[in-house]
Amino acid sequence: MNLLVIGSGGREHALCWALSASPLVNKLVCAPGNAGIAAVAKLAKVDPTDRDAVLQLCRDEHIDFVVVGPEAPLVIGLVDHLEAAGFACFGPTKAAAQLEGSKGFMKDLCAKYGIPTAAYGRFKDAAGAEAFIRKHGAPIVVKADGLAAGKGVTVAMTLDEALAANAALFSQPGAEVVIEEYLDGEEISFFALVDGKTALPLASAQDHKRVGDGDTGPNTGGMGAYSPAPAMTPALQAQVMDSIIMPTVRAMAAEGAPFKGVLFAGLMLTKDGPKLLEYNVRFGDPECQTLMLRLKSDLLPALMAARDGVLKDFDLRWRDDAALCVVMAAEGYPGEPRKGTVIAGLDDAAAESDVVIFHAGTTAREDGAILANGGRVLGVCGLGPSVRAAQARAYAAVDKIRWPEGFCRRDIGWRAIAREQQS
Ligand code: AMP
Ligand code: GLY
Repeated sequence: MNLLVIGSGGREHALCWALSASPLVNKLVCAPGNAGIAAVAKLAKVDPTDRDAVLQLCRDEHIDFVVVGPEAPLVIGLVDHLEAAGFACFGPTKAAAQLEGSKGFMKDLCAKYGIPTAAYGRFKDAAGAEAFIRKHGAPIVVKADGLAAGKGVTVAMTLDEALAANAALFSQPGAEVVIEEYLDGEEISFFALVDGKTALPLASAQDHKRVGDGDTGPNTGGMGAYSPAPAMTPALQAQVMDSIIMPTVRAMAAEGAPFKGVLFAGLMLTKDGPKLLEYNVRFGDPECQTLMLRLKSDLLPALMAARDGVLKDFDLRWRDDAALCVVMAAEGYPGEPRKGTVIAGLDDAAAESDVVIFHAGTTAREDGAILANGGRVLGVCGLGPSVRAAQARAYAAVDKIRWPEGFCRRDIGWRAIAREQQS
């Protein structure tokens, strides 16, 4: 089969890496890809949000199956566009992608179908939002209602902070804002493959959203991740499937927008049980990197089964080993990252045992040098018999990378490692 993977991040490198191992794959194309993906796929300089250009690429490359990595093309209906032209795609339609594209849509769906989530209000005017904030008081959460790459959210611990965040969002024309009850607890990611009717939970994973050690500083897209997440016990998984995932799958079908693809629930484990923080409609980045490292089964048949609506009774096998991914980001991230700096030592780092390095924002210079070209630049991953062992492998590789303009957290996996030490 000829495959097209859409995207250019560490997630897409991990997907291409896994798919390139499938005996079913004849040709693998990635648009637009990055310097690391070039080792396993043919790169096509096509903008993922240019639907006609992607369609033309499918025709030119005789593509049999398309895997869409990031949310932006899903939210604008890339899957609808390609499927209408006869190209099979893994990923939700535009209507189903609203689960991520509009926080208001997601919250209203939860309210209508009784899916546990934080209490909320939706506002199109600053004064209404401000009154709601004053009524409920801090801590409280202020969110822009749209895609914001994990950065449109303020978890305000004081009233002043909440009011300032609200004012900042409403300084933009046409702003829509969701104000939410603050949920306290441990945060966990949950992933399921969904075929419109049934859902197959994937291995558990957890990421670190804050930029700094000890989970401090501003939110990012994710500074590291690990799988399995010891907090996700089999009993909790069953509870999440019954109270959150399956009700959502049924709700979307009932709303006439059946969901197919990866449903990624951001959950808060509160004292009243798991509650939905947000839905994403694609694999997490960097959680995907750890999942792909642990996946023993061929990924492609599972993605095809989800698209074809035949996921029932499908099974996936996972390695017992833990995987841990440390994100190396460019100075400035999550603000404006510094671009064009040279990254050395990648071959040495990748030669470490039980290490795989996935590229995110990288480009190759003509002389072969690898340059940083984004915020999150590398996902340095280790495998080992425990999260602690996987962490040691990943940081051994990080320490071989010579990139003075890059940084990473030094404590990825700390919660899981603390749990491992208790047991
Ligand atoms: P979101 O993009 O909606 O998931 O929000 C980004 C991050 O903000 C989440 O990963 C949480 O860490 C935090 N957050 C979002 N909503 C809440 C909430 N209701 N209570 C506490 N923290 C939240
Ligand atoms: N790592 C979280 C995300 O992909 O949104």
